[in-house]
Amino acid sequence: MNKIVRIAIDGPAGAGKSTIAKMLASELGIDYIDTGAMYRAIALKLLRSGTDYSDEEALAELLASTDVDFRGGKVFLDGEDVSSLIRTPEISELASASSTVLAIREKLVELQQAMGMRRSVIMDGRDITTKVLPFAEHKFYLTASVEERARRRALEFAEKGLPCDIEQVKADIEARDYRDTHRKNSPLTITEDSVVVDSTDLSIEEVLGVMKSYIEGGEDASGAEAH
Ligand code: DC
Repeated sequence: MNKIVRIAIDGPAGAGKSTIAKMLASELGIDYIDTGAMYRAIALKLLRSGTDYSDEEALAELLASTDVDFRGGKVFLDGEDVSSLIRTPEISELASASSTVLAIREKLVELQQAMGMRRSVIMDGRDITTKVLPFAEHKFYLTASVEERARRRALEFAEKGLPCDIEQVKADIEARDYRDTHRKNSPLTITEDSVVVDSTDLSIEEVLGVMKSYIEGGEDASGAEAH
């Protein structure tokens, strides 16, 4: 790709954003940035240091001495690769709660905008179409029913040999959905110019096909609805 193309994807937890974004990025030969991983890295630092994110002074001090980077599919916290440490239910919960705080959002949005300024990228999260890359050439809202998202998460746990209660997974997803869509700072919403893709009844290949047809300017985008 010669000209700069930015692809912004928002959507609720477990909709398959990162799976799809990674595949699209490798097909298009552009970088993928998982902004959720960056919020998770901050949550890990809060947890490790025992910092209360509602303590403004302590938080400001922590943020001033924190470096978060996303490179080569991995997230780095102060230079340490924390990619696998951030995939726990405890960090999911703390990332969702602490991402409501303006100081954390401002720091990460600035870093993410710098990453998407001068090169082609695909970025996913909750505020990419609205706040981080509102000027993106392509915007998508990827979603699926809460039952299907819980089913997919439970499958991931099962594949890792971890025990899980599907009703609990569903309740956790619903709680995160509520917080991500109702917070004061940059809540998850669907912009007028986003293409909504509901993946409940679609395979990964079908979702990819729909999105690629929009990106490549094709007409056949059945399964998606322009919002
Ligand atoms: O996409 P994820 O589940 O890894 O994200 C973890 C949390 O981070 C999510 O519950 C909300 C927050 N988040 C956000 O507020 N803005 C983003 N752009 C990405 C994630």
